Amino acid sequence: MNQPKRYLITSALPYANGLKHVGHLAGAYIPADIYVRYLRARKRDVVFVCGSDEHGTAIPIQAMKEGTTPRAIIDKYHQAIKQDFEDLAISFDIYHRTSEPIHHETAQEFFTYLNDRGELETKETEQYYDEEAKTFLADRYIKGTCPVCGSNRAFGDQCENCGSTLSPDELINPVSTLSGKKPVKKKTTHWYLPLGKHEEFLREWILKQHKDDWRATVVGQCKSWIEGGLQSRAVTRDLDWGIEVPASPNPSKGGALQPSVEGKVLYVWFDAPIGYISATKQWAIDNKQDWKPYWYDADTKLVHFVGKDNIVFHCIIFPVMLKLHGNILPANVPANEFLNLEGDKMSTSRNWKLDMRDYINDFVKKENGGGQCVDMLRYYLTQIAPETKDSEFTWKGFQDAVNSELVSIFGNFVNRTFVLMHKLCNGRVPKLHEDILDETDKTLMAEIENAKLKVENLLEQYKFREALYEVIDLSRKGNQYMQKKEPWILAKQLESSKSSPPGGRLEGARIDNCLHLCLQLTANLAVLVNPFLPNTAKKMLYMMKVVDKILDWENAGKLKLLSVGYSLREPQLLFRKIEDAEIAGQVEKLKAGLVKTDTSSPLPVTGQPATGNWKPQIVYDDFAKLDLKTGTILAAEKVAKADKLLKLEVDLGFEKRTIVSGIAIHFKPEDIVGKQVVVVANLAPRKMKGIESNGMILMAEDKDGRLIFVNPDEAMANGAPVS
Ligand code: MF3
Ligand code: ZN
Repeated sequence: MNQPKRYLITSALPYANGLKHVGHLAGAYIPADIYVRYLRARKRDVVFVCGSDEHGTAIPIQAMKEGTTPRAIIDKYHQAIKQDFEDLAISFDIYHRTSEPIHHETAQEFFTYLNDRGELETKETEQYYDEEAKTFLADRYIKGTCPVCGSNRAFGDQCENCGSTLSPDELINPVSTLSGKKPVKKKTTHWYLPLGKHEEFLREWILKQHKDDWRATVVGQCKSWIEGGLQSRAVTRDLDWGIEVPASPNPSKGGALQPSVEGKVLYVWFDAPIGYISATKQWAIDNKQDWKPYWYDADTKLVHFVGKDNIVFHCIIFPVMLKLHGNILPANVPANEFLNLEGDKMSTSRNWKLDMRDYINDFVKKENGGGQCVDMLRYYLTQIAPETKDSEFTWKGFQDAVNSELVSIFGNFVNRTFVLMHKLCNGRVPKLHEDILDETDKTLMAEIENAKLKVENLLEQYKFREALYEVIDLSRKGNQYMQKKEPWILAKQLESSKSSPPGGRLEGARIDNCLHLCLQLTANLAVLVNPFLPNTAKKMLYMMKVVDKILDWENAGKLKLLSVGYSLREPQLLFRKIEDAEIAGQVEKLKAGLVKTDTSSPLPVTGQPATGNWKPQIVYDDFAKLDLKTGTILAAEKVAKADKLLKLEVDLGFEKRTIVSGIAIHFKPEDIVGKQVVVVANLAPRKMKGIESNGMILMAEDKDGRLIFVNPDEAMANGAPVS
């Protein structure tokens, strides 16, 4: 295939109704960012757009939950999500918003264009209406009993208990979440996109033209949609939050009499993907470029990165809209499947998730965090990316990926290379003695040259997991090479042969060759790893004292990236280890935060969010197992290399105990000595940072995460039972 003239890469616009989790990140953002960084390194003309999806019922519903306005919600979460992406090195060229005027105009123009050409239909139907709130009810505003599983918390569009897709008519005993009243049916007219008319086009374009180059999961989903019968889809809604339906400027032109647009907005799934176009327009204004070729010129390669729940919108509905509007179509939609978490589906309502923000706070923003922790997450999420089927994030898996691949293979190779180069070659790039290159050297040289093509081919096919595997594999080969060459043994031989001529010339030359090749390999690794782990590549550049230019993709596969005699810096550790205590803490936190959805309790009428972390009911015997005792903190000190932990000596009357507690960010050691506390005295001992902890101190946490001690109201003898 010819190389396209330019690329437009999009990531799904997240709803600005809450923080986003690592499932989102792995699905549509990291893969897109890798692809874009790769294209940039190839010096291609590429624009990477994203932004907030700020319409739809999700926004006013969140506003209701937080007791504020939709505007306040989108402002808050737009900023927060944008920041999180920045913190994780997702390098959008623009992060736009669908609330911007330029987007409203673009979406309205799009609608008018289709409507004026008779591409939309209008239809009158009956919909639920809340007479008290005087408004039509979006599907999400209606709750009732699920006809499938009997849960009485089903919504008009979906039952979150059993996952069934529903329509409001199927709900048993529907009630309005606005007033709590039973809604009535009322007539309303809407505009529809008649997908059925485009069946032939969709069959030809997806099921024939793209059946081999799109992912099987994507083609499969499209096929079942097409085969299930393509229904007309409403593109307007009765709602007071969204983009107003534009009155047709020339109603006579389309022939049909146009219904009133009063109180109607564009359906969020009509306006949101147009957000890619308005984002491109805004980017063009900001950068004094022309946006049109990106959406009209057939020489542009458009790629949409999305999660699996967005497939039909990006493969069927939006392409039909684009075709009717005269735009280009996506060349590919490399959608990912779902990412589960610790054995369960990720869920915002049940709070079973890892928010990007939580990872940033717990790892990136910590003393031993920063860019390396960003790259560690990017690494793991790429390594487990659900490209062909659902996959799972586990903290143990994260620890293993970091410790036994990034630290032990990649990081170790680079570190060894630098350490030995300083020790054996005076900190300079040694010479390559071509005359004595052996098979092992030549094999490694060939591997370096091949790696570029392998990684490139995989990236061009959106196989990010495999591409990253090849990069790590190259560093693994570097380790094996070094193990075979054993330059440290050569150095000893060199030492002992110096006295007798010819003075170890051969050993010296072998050391040179080994480190010369390992250094060239290191430079290659920097180029290859850069799209995946940009912070790591930067650090490697610093160590090699070379400029960014080295990261140009065309440098991959080259064996002369570093010049002979060039002096390099001392090594820096590229990645740190993830400790057992860190992942144990994360798993604990996840479990403690789980919100149980109780399907038997009555409906909260206004949709108050579940707050607090309630645990399931227990019987007295469960409680009686706890041995709670009063105690006094005798001494407290920080635990080395663990910024959360304090080592405490606690007097329990009958004995003194060492207890390690994760409270170091909340209290200074000197401030808590002498405090009386309640201790879980029969908790099984646990080692943290090599210190055995014998018990646990009870703490209460307020909503801002501030901790206070739970202790007796008056001073008590140590060792008194608490029950
Ligand atoms: N906000 C949608 C979601 O989170 C995605 C919108 S993608 C776009 O599922 F194409 F419509 F922008
Ligand atoms: Zn159900």
